[in-house]
Amino acid sequence: MSAPVEDFVATETAVEVDDLHVTFSGREGGMARAVDGVNLAVRKGEIIALVGESGCGKTTLARTILGLEKPASGEVRFHGTPLEYNGRALKRYRKNVQLVLQDPTGSLNPRHSVYEAVAEGPRTHGMDDEIGRVTRALSMAGLRPPEKFFLRYPHELSGGQRQRVVIAGALALDPEVIIADEPVSSLDASVRGEILALMLKLREELGLTLLVVTHDLGLAWNIADRIVVMYLGRVVEQGPTEEVLSNPQHPYTRALLSVVPEMHGTEQIVLSGETPDPTKIPSGCRFHPRCQEVRTGVAERAGVLGACSTISPVVLPPSIPIGVNVADLSHEAACHLANPPPSA
Ligand SMILES: Nc1ncnc2c1ncn2[C@@H]1O[C@H](COP(=O)(O)OP(=O)(O)O)[C@@H](O)[C@H]1O
Ligand SMILES: [Mg+2]
Repeated sequence: MSAPVEDFVATETAVEVDDLHVTFSGREGGMARAVDGVNLAVRKGEIIALVGESGCGKTTLARTILGLEKPASGEVRFHGTPLEYNGRALKRYRKNVQLVLQDPTGSLNPRHSVYEAVAEGPRTHGMDDEIGRVTRALSMAGLRPPEKFFLRYPHELSGGQRQRVVIAGALALDPEVIIADEPVSSLDASVRGEILALMLKLREELGLTLLVVTHDLGLAWNIADRIVVMYLGRVVEQGPTEEVLSNPQHPYTRALLSVVPEMHGTEQIVLSGETPDPTKIPSGCRFHPRCQEVRTGVAERAGVLGACSTISPVVLPPSIPIGVNVADLSHEAACHLANPPPSA
């Protein structure tokens, strides 16, 4: 397996977030810092995989990019313009930036036919040529001949077909960006491959920009130009897919990678400690209580152990935006071992 695209040069940034913080008041009066200082620039036409364990803030980041959550601080921009949090502006924005969820989360209404499901968006936005739009969207999503699917209901379709209907519903609005949150996690392996191939095709044929949220680093491998790894509300590593996967710099990425089945021969790294809790973010490097390099003495021998528990690694900047071949984009990790702080 290898990353699908080596030669891709974006000429503009589609969506970017700047020092984004999103908080929830948790149980017991605590404050969950679900997104805790994220910089990210999604370049037009690129496919980014946002990866990390469950609970690390991927969905919250995605929902905030869509304007479904309002940040405590920081900014979301679309082509350089900050989001406006009013109904009209958000409606206009969401025509361009569409969310695709996996169908089992109830994105399809069981009482709506395929036609109604796909026509809903264009109708809401008062777009012309509804039948033409639905037809083209279904066809683009691989449901052919499209007319054959108009009057079908979700229960008459396979899991893969239902996911294609969900994608067609987004395509019917001619969006520029699709944010897909765990789009294939509940599908069988073979169907998963088909849906991923469809997403690659949509980028190729429509120039779509895709942010694919997944806990599965193996999936990222198959589809993304760039991988962004999150841990406890922050980006801990990012870079071109090939780079991140062949030369992971952050111990957390190495641990995630060690359990990907395709990584034959790699010894599995078991993370110690409690599952991360965004109401109690550790001081220093937020990963240090679970870090295998701390546990096995590597950090101490490198002289950074003190820094690991006391100094927060520098927050990663958004990647170099535009005019650069994707393979030449920067690759960085927020880790004292990879980038020792000056004082260590
Ligand atoms: N609406 C909410 N209210 C309170 N806490 C939330 C809410 N949404 C998410 N969280 C918390 O924020 C953290 C990140 O969640 P989420 O963004 O769903 O992570 P992921 O998608 O990576 O699994 C979790 O600890 C979760 O419990
Ligand atoms: Mg999620």
